Amino acid sequence: MRIIEDLPEMRAEAAGMRARRAECGLVPTMGALHPGHISLMKRCRSENSVAVASIFVNPTQFTDKNDFANYPRNLNDDLQKILSARFDFAFVPAVNEMYPEEDKRVFDFGALDKTMEGAARPGHFNGVAQIVSRLFDAVKPDRAYFGEKDFQQTVIIKRLAEMMNFETDIITCPTVREADGLAMSSRNMLLTPQQRKDATVIYRTLLMCKEIIAAFPFDEIKIRAKKQIDNISEMQTEYIDIVHRNTLQPAVKYIKDVLQCCVAVRVGNVRLIDNIRL
Ligand code: PAJ
Repeated sequence: MRIIEDLPEMRAEAAGMRARRAECGLVPTMGALHPGHISLMKRCRSENSVAVASIFVNPTQFTDKNDFANYPRNLNDDLQKILSARFDFAFVPAVNEMYPEEDKRVFDFGALDKTMEGAARPGHFNGVAQIVSRLFDAVKPDRAYFGEKDFQQTVIIKRLAEMMNFETDIITCPTVREADGLAMSSRNMLLTPQQRKDATVIYRTLLMCKEIIAAFPFDEIKIRAKKQIDNISEMQTEYIDIVHRNTLQPAVKYIKDVLQCCVAVRVGNVRLIDNIRL
């Protein structure tokens, strides 16, 4: 495996791959790798002759300075994991390498980034689009892999790839969970043992919503869900929304398989998100 820190070097390697007609897969990450990331890497490794993972904690997508400062960073462990996944390249640029100047681009995702994470963290998806477009531009992957754990992000990145005419297929991969159902996340390691136990209510609540989705008005389902979560001390629901999977707009009527229930919860100072297909 080659570790690349330099953007021109990554571009040169990518040009070499295209010249050899090698198919290239990219897994963009912010590091602190866990089995959720590894599942994306496995799929990427199995579908491409060249596999690239990037690790970059992208400052432009953080809307809270403390969250950026406290984001877990474990570069050596991460590189070991990428090596074990038999990847060809780990791309680990510094901030001034990816942003030699401030990125002032503003992306128009229409209504897609006005709900849920986009509403709760204004500017977040613009930052995601800035970095993903720069990574795609550097690596020019044939396929890029994203997890459904960040459901809204997958929809917005598909739109970004269309808008910018990237010749990259966006592949979405299922959410990997702990044995007790908690969606794996780099932020889980910031929870206290008690908060970690309490956080299992998030997925239980999503399963409850799925079970009763056809039986009650959505407003009532959302109230029940919020109550179930907010009853636990230190836990507060930021939003729970039932949306159409393609438009991300709130739904009022159950139609099988086209809706997604998405939730964001604060557990103490840690913010967790999860979702389920209904
Ligand atoms: P990060 O949170 O590190 O996640 C990298 C990728 O791993 C994302 O596509 C995310 O959806 C996926 N992932 C995280 N947890 C997962 C889980 N439990 N199961 C399956 N997939 C999971 O998402 C980002 O980084 C950034 O926004 C990024 C796209 C890298 C842009 O900076």
